[in-house]
Amino acid sequence: MSGQAEFVVVANRLPVDLERLPDGTTRWKRSPGGLVTALEPILRSNQGAWVGWAGVADADLDPIVEDGLELYPVPLSAEEINEYYEGFSNATLWPLYHDVIVKPEYHREWWNAYVEVNRRFAEATSKAAAQGATVWIQDYQLQLVPKMLRMLRPDLTIGFFLHIPFPPVELFMQMPWRTEIVEGLLGADLIGFHLPGGAQNFLYLARRLAGQQTSRGTVGVRSKLGVVQVGFRSVRVGAFPISIDSGKLDELSRTKAIRDRAKQIRKELGNPKHIMLGVDRLDYTKGIDVRLAALHELLMEKRIDPADTVMVQLATPSRERVESYVQMRGDIEQKVSRINGEFSEVGRPVVHYIHRPIPRDELVAFFVAADLMLVTPLRDGMNLVAKEYVACRSDLGGALLLSEFTGAAAELRQAFLCNPHDLDDVKDSMEKALNQPREDGRRHMRALRRQVLTHDVDRWARSFLDALAHGGAAGPALIAP
Ligand code: ADP
Ligand code: F6P
Repeated sequence: MSGQAEFVVVANRLPVDLERLPDGTTRWKRSPGGLVTALEPILRSNQGAWVGWAGVADADLDPIVEDGLELYPVPLSAEEINEYYEGFSNATLWPLYHDVIVKPEYHREWWNAYVEVNRRFAEATSKAAAQGATVWIQDYQLQLVPKMLRMLRPDLTIGFFLHIPFPPVELFMQMPWRTEIVEGLLGADLIGFHLPGGAQNFLYLARRLAGQQTSRGTVGVRSKLGVVQVGFRSVRVGAFPISIDSGKLDELSRTKAIRDRAKQIRKELGNPKHIMLGVDRLDYTKGIDVRLAALHELLMEKRIDPADTVMVQLATPSRERVESYVQMRGDIEQKVSRINGEFSEVGRPVVHYIHRPIPRDELVAFFVAADLMLVTPLRDGMNLVAKEYVACRSDLGGALLLSEFTGAAAELRQAFLCNPHDLDDVKDSMEKALNQPREDGRRHMRALRRQVLTHDVDRWARSFLDALAHGGAAGPALIAP
């Protein structure tokens, strides 16, 4: 049975979460994370449908139109949330794909739930998509959907994009269900990664684990796609670094209301000489502990003066029932209070820590107000926050401290790049960024903005969807498995 939608986005989460209020009523609120930030504008301009989970257990909802978006909710039981979402997606795949910063757990019942839920997503998509439609499946939670959907609906054109890093071969080989995952992805016509390195790793695994022939040569950025020959089908593999709606953010950040609010934020913080800012989901990959450790040592060494410097950490709650997240939250909150205990005065904390999501306009005002943006992940597929900060600095003010271990570092070369595993390097870069001459800062920011404003999310989506629409056969040069 096919549906009406010519273009379908499939993601674990809908762009909005259903919130159950204490009085028993419900309302929709924006979902967390970079995927939603990136894809919402694309779906709006393509007038498509979005298949995903509403963020709560046992919500059996009919398709709805919410704020102009056509949504197809996929229900998850409390047990599936535990095993498929918190378990296999976020305690197995997430740490494995992020350099095993915490140890991935491999449980057969979690895998079974992952298979079952992926099947449900494939079935829901099959019902929503019109004959011959284009379906774009997103991220690590749904890696089996391409193959399952192809079996249900061979008429569809299927794309898949991975929003997180694809790991080195040696790490991926730990996965007990490694072959099933590679074969699941190979159900797509085009598989996209942020960086050429991820695409290259996948090509190697398609040969080694799925026994398929693949193209020779290196994959480029938005060019030179790799090919896996699966029977008569050519599956293409490429690198498409994701981005943000930079034009819209630039425009918003220039408005009087945002400028005024930015000034007010500085005032509320005591008009210090330096404001440092962190904006993240509260996740152990983000290196929030790294920047706090660097700040702590710089304060102890008197290289930063607590009388004229503050740090603001805005941290959206995330995956709060996963054990590693519970532990990390405790660790971060302890570090914040230790710094404040040792270096704050009454009414003048050094670290301002806010553990709740911030409305979009308020976030933009924080970007405009901050002198130094701290982006220090131990590993991050892209990191949109770094690009958002740059897009908001039309005044050419501010500086960006950026971990080399983010996808964004491949594009934002004029940032203060640092190795988050090397605390001295983070400290030195932080100090240098805080004290850079104004003219140097303006030059760096101008170059960063050129990159971010010319490579926006629309370009990302167009390059992926154009490549998906214009499929091609494999060239003659294939490497045998
Ligand atoms: P991830 O997808 O891992 O969460 P990204 O940096 O790519 O990381 O994207 C995060 C998105 O969530 C960005 O659009 C960012 O502005 C938003 N965000 C992060 N922290 C907050 C916060 N505290 N309040 C509101 N939005 C936030
Ligand atoms: O890309 C990273 C990602 O996991 C997205 O898939 C997701 O939308 C976002 O981070 C937020 O995570 P979660 O949906 O688990 O709250």
